[in-house]
Amino acid sequence: MILEAINYAATRIKTPDEFRPYVRYSVNLWARANRCQKAWAEHEENSRRFILAASAKLRQRRTAVVLGSGLVRDVPLRQLAAVFDTVVLVDLVHLASVRSHLYWQRRNNIVLNSRDLSGYEDLKVGKEPEPLSFLRLVPYLDLVISANLLSQIGTGARHRLEKEPAGVIPDNTLPRLIRAHIDGLSGLPCKVCLITDTGFEVIDKNGALHQQEDLLHGVEPAKIAQRWDWPVVPFGEESKDYQIIHKVVASELT
Ligand SMILES: C[S@@+](CC[C@H](N)C(=O)[O-])C[C@H]1O[C@@H](n2cnc3c(N)ncnc32)[C@H](O)[C@@H]1O
Repeated sequence: MILEAINYAATRIKTPDEFRPYVRYSVNLWARANRCQKAWAEHEENSRRFILAASAKLRQRRTAVVLGSGLVRDVPLRQLAAVFDTVVLVDLVHLASVRSHLYWQRRNNIVLNSRDLSGYEDLKVGKEPEPLSFLRLVPYLDLVISANLLSQIGTGARHRLEKEPAGVIPDNTLPRLIRAHIDGLSGLPCKVCLITDTGFEVIDKNGALHQQEDLLHGVEPAKIAQRWDWPVVPFGEESKDYQIIHKVVASELT
């Protein structure tokens, strides 16, 4: 608890005002990832391996951008930073614990960028969301990785929608934002990896399914190359009676 408080306070100072409301979420994610280290290990290893395999296919390795870099657990950052000229980590929040880890790695080719990747603000003012248009301005872009971010765009937008007065935001906001992310990735002139959870299942100790939810709101990623399970909430995390398994897909979109 004390470590969480320190991480929260140190992160808040470094985070631009507009993203400070999201610091709590990132600290909670960090705490859960530490508690569930064993249960999450296979998912993280699968993600890292998929990214390294895609990176190995490239002829040039100049700039790599990681979208939803978060805790940098499911991204092979050390290996990417060793072979790319520049690695850009993009997220709403970069935790103090992550910053300090990067500091001690003494890599000066890792750049942190705080940014809302959802496109929600565009939709709010009646514009077509183009949340990834900034990537067109990144020089020498050879690899873009969407790292277990996409479902969170939908979940985050749903929380924001709940606070909006009726009629301000279009009804189909969630699938539109998810589609905008996939379209933005698909239009890039470089190698693109999309790794995302698509839904979850609540399962009891006898293996019986109690609840199932689609986290991508009907949108299906193309070119799925691999699938695996991610026990985000293993037995004992929220209850000894059930676990929550997220379904993950990995695509090389381009
Ligand atoms: C499940 S975590 C990804 C884990 C991360 N790739 C890792 O290696 O630990 C989802 C990440 O997406 C970020 N995120 C959620 N909504 C976002 C948004 N609208 N814009 C940018 N990042 C967002 C969260 O801050 C979080 O770090």
